[in-house]
Amino acid sequence: MSNENLLSIKALSVSFGGLKALTNVNLELNQNEVVGLIGPNGAGKTTLFNALSGLVDVESGSLLINGKSHKWPKPHQLVDLGISRTLQGVGLFPELTVLENVMVGDNKNARSGLISSALGLSGRDEAKLKQRAMSALERVYASGIADQRADSLPYPVTKRVAIARALVSEPKILLLDEPAGGMGAQDIEWMNSLIHNLASQCSIILVEHHMDVVMSVCDRLCVLNFGEVIASGEVETVRQDPAVVAAYLGVNN
Ligand SMILES: Nc1ncnc2c1ncn2[C@@H]1O[C@H](COP(=O)(O)OP(=O)(O)O)[C@@H](O)[C@H]1O
Ligand SMILES: [Mg+2]
Repeated sequence: MSNENLLSIKALSVSFGGLKALTNVNLELNQNEVVGLIGPNGAGKTTLFNALSGLVDVESGSLLINGKSHKWPKPHQLVDLGISRTLQGVGLFPELTVLENVMVGDNKNARSGLISSALGLSGRDEAKLKQRAMSALERVYASGIADQRADSLPYPVTKRVAIARALVSEPKILLLDEPAGGMGAQDIEWMNSLIHNLASQCSIILVEHHMDVVMSVCDRLCVLNFGEVIASGEVETVRQDPAVVAAYLGVNN
């Protein structure tokens, strides 16, 4: 068994009632690699993230981290496993400041008392967390807006704050679900270079419909269609794969 894969998903299947959302999906992620997980709406991309972050039940399949077999994690175990994600929607707390939203991202007991426990830390722990949250905000060039309320921000900025929230736990593996979704051309370009920068510090699985972003930041692609991998490998090879063009790229181009 190879040790070099940071993350390895083997034969993952997830069903919702009668619907097979994922069938025998394999996906590998190496150190400092960006893997694009693409495919039409409903293909199962978010479900794969949900399986990996303990938000849906896995029917079958195995997970290896650094070549070591792991149980599918529960949400509160993600931080210790070095895994962090953004949601397809933005999911910020509107009434909290940007800094508070990012601090909450570090909470390990995400199921209960989220805000109060994140902000009710001992003085020293809170100071440390604040420092990490500020440095996460710096990484997305948003430290200048730390004290603004989340509901006062323009949409593209909220997407950056959502990424900072995922970064505060200093993940080794970052799962980004449509980070450029709903953005205009200029903000997309900006997001593109941000993902480039992040990739120097962690490994990323990127779900994104904007093909220019995908083609420019990804090292490899994994293409899902109706819950099955129809192609995977180097970006150039996959983008020319007739099955991919027919199922997906042909629709967009
Ligand atoms: N929690 C859920 N309960 C029932 N069906 C779901 C759930 N999550 C996703 N699905 C279904 O699984 C399929 C894959 O969805 P999803 O993973 O969101 O696709 P994608 O992110 O690729 O657009 C879709 O048919 C969707 O309706
Ligand atoms: Mg999705």
